[in-house]
Amino acid sequence: MNTRKPWGGRFQRLTDRRVEAFTQSVSFDRRLYPQDIRGSIAHARMLARIGVLTAAECDQIVGGLGQIQSEIERGEFEWSPALEDVHMNIETRLIERIGDAGKKLHTGRSRNDQVATDLRLYLRDAVDDIVDGILGLQQSLLDVADAEADTVMPGYTHLQVAQPVTVGHHLMAWLEMLERDLQRFLDGRRRINVMPLGSAALAGTSFPIDRAFTARELGFETPSNNSLDAVSDRDFVIEFVAGAAMLMVHFSRMAEELILWSTQQFGFIEMGDAFCTGSSIMPQKKNPDVAELTRGKSGRVIGHLMAVLTVIKGQPLAYNRDNQEDKELTFDTVDTVRDCLEIMQVMMSNLVFHRERLLEAARDGFATATDLAEYLVLQGVPFRDAHEAVGRAVHYALEHARDLSELSLEELRRFHPAVDEDVTDRLTAAGSVKLRSHPGGTAPSCVREAVASARERLAQNRASATESR
Ligand code: ARG
Repeated sequence: MNTRKPWGGRFQRLTDRRVEAFTQSVSFDRRLYPQDIRGSIAHARMLARIGVLTAAECDQIVGGLGQIQSEIERGEFEWSPALEDVHMNIETRLIERIGDAGKKLHTGRSRNDQVATDLRLYLRDAVDDIVDGILGLQQSLLDVADAEADTVMPGYTHLQVAQPVTVGHHLMAWLEMLERDLQRFLDGRRRINVMPLGSAALAGTSFPIDRAFTARELGFETPSNNSLDAVSDRDFVIEFVAGAAMLMVHFSRMAEELILWSTQQFGFIEMGDAFCTGSSIMPQKKNPDVAELTRGKSGRVIGHLMAVLTVIKGQPLAYNRDNQEDKELTFDTVDTVRDCLEIMQVMMSNLVFHRERLLEAARDGFATATDLAEYLVLQGVPFRDAHEAVGRAVHYALEHARDLSELSLEELRRFHPAVDEDVTDRLTAAGSVKLRSHPGGTAPSCVREAVASARERLAQNRASATESR
């Protein structure tokens, strides 16, 4: 279909079909219809307020846009690629419905400030959703961390058993990653919440517009400061996608651990049957596909970050059509993050930790060797000497296939005479974690405190997130 364009006046010939297909964005930007309609209603009200529209015209526009919204939501709206984008589709339909009043809506406005406004409205809501999702996931993590505050597991560096830690402490590390993600989204929201409307194509408009009014109507913190910047700036998209990429990297790391922990070799956790899938050939298999997909999906969001940075790089002021390329990646980022948040939360709340196996693994690998060295230091032995002595003890225990906690006092004394009976508490995994009881430490008592203060922080975050909306 080769339709006449709203901008067709200066053109002698119709657009080539291939150009129409190449330039259209309505196939994906129609997703912005609620924001587009909301922005248009605010703009019309502002125009009426400054006397550019009569009250009656404004009412017709607002009514017409409301009906178009219902048409869209009932699936009756006919989207036309010949009308390029969501903006011209809706405006053209409005004119069809209400005639001349509809033709006045675009006064003092351009699609350039319109699309920037729509996208900011869209991302503001998306951020609110994502923030709620993160808060929900944190809540689930806190509950599991609380339940596993005493559960001992091996802690790793280089993926080699290092020192015993508690499962609660490990999960609280995840919670901290998510806390930074949350703060990043909340911080970025302030920069999203700025209104471009009034910048028009790039230079503003000669009409006596009331930008503060429109901003209030749309819940924006403030109108933008510079019209050239406002129509070309997509920093807010970059920041959003960067925050999302970071969150996805965190998810990927968590997923990776869940996958490792659920292997036969680790055997630390059981993911419920409802969260795993089978193999079409190997009957015994129960695969952690959900975690794997979460890990895999980080790839696309990281890709979107590279894409949006590249789209913006090299653009002169002010608006350029390159910016149309920001949308699909933004939508896919939002969808991916939302899906992963939801699935991570259900997975978290359905994990079963095999406490016996975790303890056994913490006993293997001489995880309490550092505790023995620290014990010697407390007896006055210089740390380097203690390190050396314990190294020899580990070698001995290895040769006799025993753990340090299984060596007798006499045996231990062979490596250093300063060892006494009170050493035994330190050589078990539970004894080891108990001693690490400073703020930020892994002791069960500290995990409980960390959980309690994180619960308070979560409640504060919830309250301030709601307040900022
Ligand atoms: N569809 C465009 C975008 O997504 C908005 C329209 C601006 N187009 C223009 N030719 N000035 O960025």
